[in-house]
Order: sequence, then structure tokens, then C-alpha cells
Amino acid sequence: MSNSLFRKKSLSKIMQDAKDGVSDSHGGASLTKVLNVRDLTLMGVAAVIGAGIFSTIGQAAYNGGPGVIFLFLLTAVTCGFTALCYAEFASRVPVAGSAYTYSYVTFGELAAWIIGWALILEYSIGNIVVAISWSSYFNNVLEGMNIHLPAWLITDSSTAKAAYEHAVATNLPVEGLAWSTAPLLGSWKVIMNIPAFLIVVLITIVAYIGIRESKRSANAMVGLKIIVLAVVVLIGVFYINTDNWTPFLPNKFEGVLKGVSAVFFAYIGFDAISTTAEETANPQRDMPRAMIYSLIICTIIYIVVTLVITGMVNYSEFNHIADPLAYVFDKLNMEKVGYVISISAVVAATSVILVFQIGQPRIWMSMSRDGLLPKKFAKVHRKFHTPSFATIVTGFIVAIPSLFVESGIVTDLTSIGTLFAFVLVCGGVLLLPKVDKESKKFNLPYINGMIIVPAIFALFCFFFRDKIGDTFVNLATIDHERILFLIFLILSFAITVATIIKRFSLIPVLGMLCCLYLMIEIPVKSWLVFFCWMGFGLLVYFLYGYWKSKLAPKQA
Ligand code: ALA
Repeated sequence: MSNSLFRKKSLSKIMQDAKDGVSDSHGGASLTKVLNVRDLTLMGVAAVIGAGIFSTIGQAAYNGGPGVIFLFLLTAVTCGFTALCYAEFASRVPVAGSAYTYSYVTFGELAAWIIGWALILEYSIGNIVVAISWSSYFNNVLEGMNIHLPAWLITDSSTAKAAYEHAVATNLPVEGLAWSTAPLLGSWKVIMNIPAFLIVVLITIVAYIGIRESKRSANAMVGLKIIVLAVVVLIGVFYINTDNWTPFLPNKFEGVLKGVSAVFFAYIGFDAISTTAEETANPQRDMPRAMIYSLIICTIIYIVVTLVITGMVNYSEFNHIADPLAYVFDKLNMEKVGYVISISAVVAATSVILVFQIGQPRIWMSMSRDGLLPKKFAKVHRKFHTPSFATIVTGFIVAIPSLFVESGIVTDLTSIGTLFAFVLVCGGVLLLPKVDKESKKFNLPYINGMIIVPAIFALFCFFFRDKIGDTFVNLATIDHERILFLIFLILSFAITVATIIKRFSLIPVLGMLCCLYLMIEIPVKSWLVFFCWMGFGLLVYFLYGYWKSKLAPKQA
């Protein structure tokens, strides 16, 4: 059995399956090759700029102060290493399926399944967070037009209950709150997020109808949100008070690191481009470029926007502010600008939802082609040329929880799942066989890591010497956070030794180490949920995929 868990697909087999796999069994329909580097870059930006910069940046800025830009930089560099690894894979394996397909080639089937399962966290669970954020901005927009939805139709019950308890504890009025006004169905308080549900349904319909329509909508929305963010910066820059930038790191680097999950969430999405390889005219040339371009554009936007808003208002005012970009303008009595920002936040979140709703079905399509999911997931619609069944399932998986789920823990879960996938993509590059450079249009630069990686590891140990000493001295009473830190130390030591022995390439190794580090900064309670999710995924694999895989030996 252990051998079959590591059964691998060859590159040539993957390319062949992509060419004829779907059409054979599902009536000749295949995906349409309409995307170029501009579309892909815009799609990347569409997927990246969304709820993160419009919402979660607020709390991150509160914890880290203006210095949170360092976290944006660190995260951008981490994503940059990973993007280069994605690009190397994409130039060798230009088929849909993203990290899932890549790890099938390098690590084998079990790892591929695990990655595919983790990617559901990134695309589907991530989309729940974005839909919830969309709903709250959409409500702002409606309020501006004097349309007031009942409070119990725009939130979930945990958030409603927390708001009620907070109001009671602080002697605030509770009359209009969702928890007080919700109708009862038996003993159940009917509280649900209807706008979040509806936007997912609507976007699923667009994703179902066609990649061309999706592309046009995504391009239009990206243009609009970049213009609005540029306006924020151009107006805001005149209201910067440089005193607000002192101190730049009010809570030292520890405060900055509290924002890891939120800031990383803001970057999630650039890899979604790699799921559309089969709809790209020249994937080997265009996908690597598009990933890097979109990452650079987003990093510049994030850093400039962060500097502007933390210059306009003191960082200490961002505690629990869900709409920081609108908030800073409201504070300066420019409500109209704030209102325009709310509208653009709605647009930004819409484009993120769209790209992710396109990405998830294409991963399932790849898994189904390999036999790890039922055949229906690979069905391509005859008229619309999209993975129709998988798109509908994605719609359900995102829309239903959007009605009821609270967004905090799902943000962490999305970030851990995505970082986990990134670690395996970077690791996978190290295991790829060497090929002739001329045969590819993108080549990951090889820099021997055998000196630089140990030097970085030594520097890390030096800077964290107190924490390392403390961890080892208190090994008997170690808490969960220190366990994560210890695991990171052991893993990074092992990776360093392997790099010295095998002369691993620097970029993928740094990508792995940075992603692992960001992972251990995410709270332990979210790790527990992550393990449960992955455990459930393994159960599904051993009950279905293991037996039905196309690589499984045929029964007599
Ligand atoms: N990066 C995406 C966002 O911020 C997920 O909404």
C-alpha cells in the first residue's frame, strides 16, 4: 500500500490527459483558449485585491502601527518566491489544477490529494470570508441610499450574539440589534447573511456561463478598483500628518506579526491564475509573467495605501474598524469619498469571489480526471465550455456557509491552508527533474543555497536566541505556541542540512522557510480546525480516491 500512496503521474501523461481526457468521456467539449498575459495579470489583481486591503488591514495596522508595511513586504517576498516556483511548474505543466497537479508529478498521489484538499480552503473557504465582507460593505452602500435591511438578515448568529453581549456589557442600547430583533423559528433565532448568499449565487451563475464573460467582468472590475484606490491615495496624501508615523513600530515586530493571517489573506489569489492554464493561449510564457506582474502591482498598492491611511489617522484608532479605508475619510469629514470607497470595496470583493469561483471547479476537474473524484466533476458544458457540475457544487459549498458562518476563524483557516499548499509547491520544485533550459519559456534562476541558507538560519537563531533558549529550558511545560515554534526550528534545521548536502536552489528553499514561518504565527486554535479538515480529507481519500484513482491497479 505504501508504494501506491506515492504513485506519480508523469508529465507526458498529464499533458495527454489534458488534451483528450475530458473530451473523450463528455461529448467533445473542451475549455476555450482565450486568455493572454494582460487578462491573466488583471485576473491576478482581481483575485488579490479585495477584502484584505479593504477590511482586515485595519486590525493589522492597529496591532503593528505604520510598520505593518514591513509585514506586507515580508509577505510579498514570500509570495514572490512561491510565485517563481509556481511559474517554474506552470512552464512545465501547463494544464489546469494548480498546485494539485504540480504535486502529483513530484510527490505522488497522496500529497497531491492533500494539496487539492488544502486548496479547497484557499478558494472556497476563502470565498466565504470575502462574501461576508462584501455583504457588510454592500450594506454600507444601501444605508447611504437610505435603504435599511433588517439587522438579522445581514449577519451570522455568533457575530450577532457577540454584538449583543458587548452592548449589554457596555450599557449600549440593544433594541435594533440582530440578536434582539431576529424572529424565532421554534427555539432558533433566524439570523442569516442573505446578501453574502446572494452574491455567491450570482457570481456562480457568471462563472457557469463562461470564461469569456468571467474574463470581461473581472477586467472591468479590476480597472474600477485600481482607479478608486489611486483616488484614495491621491486625495489622502494631502491629509497625511507625519506625526502619525511616529512611532513607526509602536508594538515592536511582535505587534506587526499579529497581522500575519490578515496580511497574508490580502495576498491570496495570485496563484489562482495557474488554474486557468488550459484557457490560456500561451501558458508557458504568459503565466509566470502574469503572476509576478500582479504580485508587484498589488504590493505597491498595499504599501502605499497603508502608508497613506496610517498617516491620515493614528494607528491606535483602527481597533475593530472593519472598513478602515472609508473610516479615515469619514474621520476627516469627507463622507462622500468614504461612500465611493464602500462602493469600490463591493466591486473589489465581487471580483475576488469571481476568480475564486472560477478556480475551485478547475481544481476539482483535474482531481476528477485523475479518478480521485467522481467523473461528473470533470464534465465540461457543451455550450458554455466551463466545468459545469463542479461550478455548481462550488456555488453550494460557498453560498450555504456564507449564510451562517462567522468570518474570523475562516480567515485563519484560509491562510494556513494556502501557506501549506505554498510550502509543498516550493518543495516540489526542488524535486523536479532537470530539463533542457531551451525547452521552456521560463526558467527559475538557480542560485546555490548551500552557503546562504545556513547563514540565514544562523542569523535567525541569533535574533531569536532568547525564545529558543526559553523553549528548550521549559520543554516540560511547553505551551502550544512554543510547540509550533519548536516544530519550525526542527524543520528549518532539516531543510538547511538538506540544502547543504544536496545544493538546493535558494529561491524555493527560502519560499518554504518563509511560508513555514508565517504559518506558525497563526493562532493554535485555527491549527486544530486545520488538522480536523485535513483528517476529514484523508478519510475521503481512503474511502474513495485511493480505490478509484486512474493509477490504481485494475481489479481482475
Ligand atoms: N486576497 C483576497 C482578498 O483580500 C482573498 O480578498
